[in-house]
Amino acid sequence: MPKLNENYQNLKESYLFSEIAHRVAGYTAAHPDKEIIRLGIGDVTLPLGSLAIQGLHNGVDAMASSDTFKGYGPEQGYDFLRNAISAYYEENGIYVDAEDIFISDGAKSDTGNISELFDTDNVILIPDPVYPVYVDSNLMGGKQITYLAGNADNQFLPMPDKNIHADIIYLCSPNNPTGAVYNRSQLKEWVDYALANEAVILFDSAYEAFITDPKLPRSIYAIEGAKRCAIEFCSLSKTAGFTGTRCGYTVVPRELVFTASDGREMSLHAMWNRRQSTKFNGTSYIVQKGAAAVFSPEGMRQCRENIRYYQENAKMIARTLNHKKIPFFGGIHSPYIWFECPQGMESWDFFDYLLKNAQIVGTPGAGFGENGTRYFRLTAFGTHENTAKAMERFDKLF
Ligand code: MLT
Repeated sequence: MPKLNENYQNLKESYLFSEIAHRVAGYTAAHPDKEIIRLGIGDVTLPLGSLAIQGLHNGVDAMASSDTFKGYGPEQGYDFLRNAISAYYEENGIYVDAEDIFISDGAKSDTGNISELFDTDNVILIPDPVYPVYVDSNLMGGKQITYLAGNADNQFLPMPDKNIHADIIYLCSPNNPTGAVYNRSQLKEWVDYALANEAVILFDSAYEAFITDPKLPRSIYAIEGAKRCAIEFCSLSKTAGFTGTRCGYTVVPRELVFTASDGREMSLHAMWNRRQSTKFNGTSYIVQKGAAAVFSPEGMRQCRENIRYYQENAKMIARTLNHKKIPFFGGIHSPYIWFECPQGMESWDFFDYLLKNAQIVGTPGAGFGENGTRYFRLTAFGTHENTAKAMERFDKLF
């Protein structure tokens, strides 16, 4: 009989968005006449920009001819895409060497898989609430987690406690689910703390493209010293609408070298390369061509236009919450709006209430951690029409 990875027993029965899909499917089956509006999972609704589409077509055409056909690609991704990403960082005043960039199929896989590089005997800090992949992937590996409490008092931006030692620190800014964004001095505090502890920050910047205030850092590498203590994950899912197309990138600076227990030096860059080249055969050439087109000036202009569209939705949701006198977080530098459930409801109860009374699907805060138990998340990634209709319905509730 195989001995199973019993750490799976420590997980919730299903992944958050699977549980939501399951409940919505149950409701739809019982009420086939009701029109449901989905503002739950952060999935985009606008089609890809024409430049991305052209890039994808170019990739497909290359596959049709023997002189341009591509088989397995370079293990870290094609140079044309890694150079384009490096140039994108530079536009924001940040230098990231293309050599340090690994192309992937999205930030979800990489933020989940990265925990393989670390032993079980580490102090791992994970904010609560936060994107559930960090917690679940560590639990699957039998790791202990120390939670960093995010709450209204700290504006959902937990800061380091200098009296506690940490080895690994997960940060997500703009934060999923709360939309809170660390400013420069707060991130500097985290970088200084990580350097003092010889810790590694795993920084998820999947929502950086939603930041509109140029004073707010869009990358951990905007902070001096971060290349000696941080890995950054980013994705085209929310920047360019690639949730279904799948492309992301992870920066593992070669400066990240630590001493192993036998005294030898181990490089996280070399380890990630070893891990990826063993278990991953890369993002398809076609998708990488589409992704490279996103980083062209016109491609980026198209992305910004789509992001502005979603930001209008966020404003619509914010207006309704203001009208209902419900305080909220996020929605400015983020596609997510995070608010306390009305009338003291718990988040799964409010989920059911909203589905039953307004046919709106949102995301219960409990799915992002204990501190989300009385909070709720709505996404701005719907269409204008559906968001407006959902807000009309919401306005009439309680
Ligand atoms: C979310 O809704 O939290 C995200 O869409 C999930 C993801 O990016 O995997």
